[in-house]
Amino acid sequence: MRVTICIGSACHLKGSREIIAQLQTLVKEQHLDDKVDLNGSFCCGDCVNGVCVTVDGQLYSLKPEDTREFFDKEILGRL
Ligand code: FES
Repeated sequence: MRVTICIGSACHLKGSREIIAQLQTLVKEQHLDDKVDLNGSFCCGDCVNGVCVTVDGQLYSLKPEDTREFFDKEILGRL
C-alpha cells in the first residue's frame, strides 16, 4: 500500500510533518514496514482542504489530530 503525504508549503503549515511522524510511529508499532510505503509528495493541488494524503491514489484531507483514526480506518482497515 502506498501512502503519500503532501509536504508542499500549505500542507506543511497545516501539520504535514506531524502527520508523517505519527504515521511512521504507527506503522512501526504495528510492524507494517513491509506493507505500508510512506512517501512525501509536492503540492497535489488541494491546498485549501488541509493536509493532502493519498492511499493508493485515493485522496484524503487530514488534520494532525485525525491521524490515528485515519490510520485505523483507511490503512489498517484495508490491509
Ligand atoms: S501544499 Fe499540499 S496540496 Fe498544496
